[in-house]
Amino acid sequence: MNTKTKFFGSTTITFLSLCLFFLVSIFIALAVCSSEAFANSSINGASLFKSEGCIACHTINGKGGKVGPNLSHIGANNLSYRWMKKQLTDPAAHFRNNIMPPFKSMPPTQIKMLVNYLESLK
Ligand code: HEC
Repeated sequence: MNTKTKFFGSTTITFLSLCLFFLVSIFIALAVCSSEAFANSSINGASLFKSEGCIACHTINGKGGKVGPNLSHIGANNLSYRWMKKQLTDPAAHFRNNIMPPFKSMPPTQIKMLVNYLESLK
């Protein structure tokens, strides 16, 4: 009887610690996911414009390079989404003496963020 109780007791403890282990793992997984979601949500068109190097050639609101045209009011030109996307991925299709590098491997979500940002500049 005594050993049976003890056996039952240690099984319960093992079970409880397993539960605790799973709970802690789930908690850590959730924490990692939410921090990643937070990191992703902090990426936007304006930050991509800097991190992708557009700013080295283009000026927006007084900041940036002068190799390419000033984009401070690019949104006022009502260029279509398709045109903008093409300019980012294959600028040689638009300009005969193209200088701008093609951003071919940019993920579609980032292209969308950048184009939306540029179109908002009026
Ligand atoms: C090495 C310099 C350089 C970099 C880097 C660059 N561009 Fe350009 N961009 C140019 C030049 C030069 C032009 C003029 C047309 C051409 O050469 O394609 C241009 C044209 C454009 C245009 C069309 C402007 C107009 O009025 O017709 C847009 C929009 C544009 N770039 C956006 C971007 C974005 C967004 C990035 C970053 C993902 C970027 N560019 C990176 C040099 C650059």
